[in-house]
Amino acid sequence: MNLTIAPIDPARPDFAGIVSGVDIAAGISPQEAAAIEAGMDRFAVLVFRGQRIDDAQQLAFSRHFGPLETATGDIVQGAERRLAMDVNDISNVDKDGRVLPRDDRKRLFSLGNMLWHSDSSFKATPAKFSLLSARVIPDHGGNTEFADMRAAWDTLDDETKALVRDLVCDHTQLHSRGVLGFSDFTDEERRRFAPVPQRLVRRHPVTKRLSLFLSSHAGSIHGWPVPEARMLLRDLTEHATQPAFVYRHTWTPNDLVMWDNRTTMHRARRYPADQVRDLHRTTVADSAPTLQQAA
Ligand code: OGA
Ligand code: MN
Repeated sequence: MNLTIAPIDPARPDFAGIVSGVDIAAGISPQEAAAIEAGMDRFAVLVFRGQRIDDAQQLAFSRHFGPLETATGDIVQGAERRLAMDVNDISNVDKDGRVLPRDDRKRLFSLGNMLWHSDSSFKATPAKFSLLSARVIPDHGGNTEFADMRAAWDTLDDETKALVRDLVCDHTQLHSRGVLGFSDFTDEERRRFAPVPQRLVRRHPVTKRLSLFLSSHAGSIHGWPVPEARMLLRDLTEHATQPAFVYRHTWTPNDLVMWDNRTTMHRARRYPADQVRDLHRTTVADSAPTLQQAA
């Protein structure tokens, strides 16, 4: 095994690693999978450069890390989908590969990815890992930023730690899209996107480190007045996403970036609306709803 993992930024030895000596298209050994999983536990974000893969190869790689989610959180379902149900369509193109018009519903819904979030925190059992493969990238813009939610927890003052330690939030895509003024959901979507409870502070099952579990989908806190809850969540998000805790990824085609949704948030950044940006995401499901996990 030639696989090695090093910090991307030596100043941040435990957040965002770069992996070399592995060929995802060729398939990986159980030893390589174990080294990557251990790297995820340490770095929370891993970058693999120069991985030209198709969806089948991405799915085979992803399955080494647990059972996969289906893309029930996508706005485009059924015959209109461009990609299979086990691949999230992180693009601005239609089924024929054409850039979506400005007022297209899929495009407007996907602008929600530009708010800081953790994938599938709106599902009862949220996401463990996400794996995002860059197929087509615009000539500038469209970076993805990642925030270390372990560092965010560690640096809270003791009074705030005590305040938030046992709080439970409701998460729903109706909230994150509502923040942007997107509210034309069908009755079926309102049912599919019904709120789910999530702990605000969670413990990583292997490292035992605590982290803040924030996401743009969180719109209320159990037992709190809504304005006070949203103000606290904003405050915590501002703290958690300060530059010292953020890694910014500048994409090159054939990059694959993998992140731990239990311990990070991420967001997309703006890019020219007339250029194609096409990434494919596979998602490993977590083991259980956060309220059923050890705190
Ligand atoms: C995602 C996501 C951000 C981006 O794939 O889950 O939020 O930069 N992507 O496209
Ligand atoms: Mn996302």
